[in-house]
Amino acid sequence: MEKLEAALAKAREMRRSALGSPEVVRDKVVSKGGNSGADWMALPEIKLSPALASRNRITALSGGADATPYDMLRSRVIRMMKDKGWSRLAITSPGSSCGKTTISVNLALSLSRQKDLKVMLVDLDLRRPALHKTVGHEPAMSIHDVLDGTAAFENLAVRVGGNLILAMNAGAARHPAELLQSAAARERLDEIERVWQPDIMIFDMSPMLASDDNVGFLPNVDCALLVAAAESTTLANIDICEKELAQLTNVLGIVLNKCRYSDDSVGYGYGYAAYG
Ligand SMILES: Nc1ncnc2c1ncn2[C@@H]1O[C@H](COP(=O)(O)OP(=O)(O)OP(=O)(O)O)[C@@H](O)[C@H]1O
Ligand SMILES: [Mg+2]
Repeated sequence: MEKLEAALAKAREMRRSALGSPEVVRDKVVSKGGNSGADWMALPEIKLSPALASRNRITALSGGADATPYDMLRSRVIRMMKDKGWSRLAITSPGSSCGKTTISVNLALSLSRQKDLKVMLVDLDLRRPALHKTVGHEPAMSIHDVLDGTAAFENLAVRVGGNLILAMNAGAARHPAELLQSAAARERLDEIERVWQPDIMIFDMSPMLASDDNVGFLPNVDCALLVAAAESTTLANIDICEKELAQLTNVLGIVLNKCRYSDDSVGYGYGYAAYG
């Protein structure tokens, strides 16, 4: 893992000096205005079952040692995003099963333990949506129905506690790439942000190498985290995806998930190499 981190840092440094690392600026149309937005407490609440949470590696539900890695990631994400005035974060990976959904949920929960932050987690893996399974909820409709104009956000959104909204999918979308890059979906997303006024929106995306779904959507976010599975994602694929991601948005960092540490007390968790 140290070798991987060192190689990534070196590649990043080379790119940074070659390109001058310009910031990718999103076209923002959302103005927060003076009021605090729609009433989050009016949404139905779901409770995450502790048994399911433990099975699905949701360890950031309450604080404590198990939440520490996510709390550390949270602090870094907040600091970097606040510095730049960013509100939208995409989480993606080169291939499948790197841990995007697991990390998205844990990061959202960790952020939402800061009661002054309003957090929204949106499942935008429209081919193999899994957020609903990870948290054990069966939505009647999908966020892709909202993005294509056939459903209302308030009929689908649920909350966890008072300051975390989850927007999930009941199943796959029919034309995910076309939908994700449509102007209509972009406007509906802006509308959701304008009405609900989250401080941070996290988008759980699909893998980059499996489709072009993310390419059309990523210009709608401020920044992204790239999740790699330490023992299965190749350095070449991390490098290809990090370069592509950097063309589309600002790369907050690379999360190395599924790391086996030599110290057993640390367990089979994740480490990350974030830069900014
Ligand atoms: N740190 C970890 N250690 C071990 N297993 C993990 C870790 N993080 C996630 N997993 C497991 O790996 C599997 C894939 O995780 P997850 O669904 O979060 O990945 P994903 O990148 O969202 O996958 P997909 O590409 O299918 O959307 C799950 O069974 C999850 O519990
Ligand atoms: Mg996933």
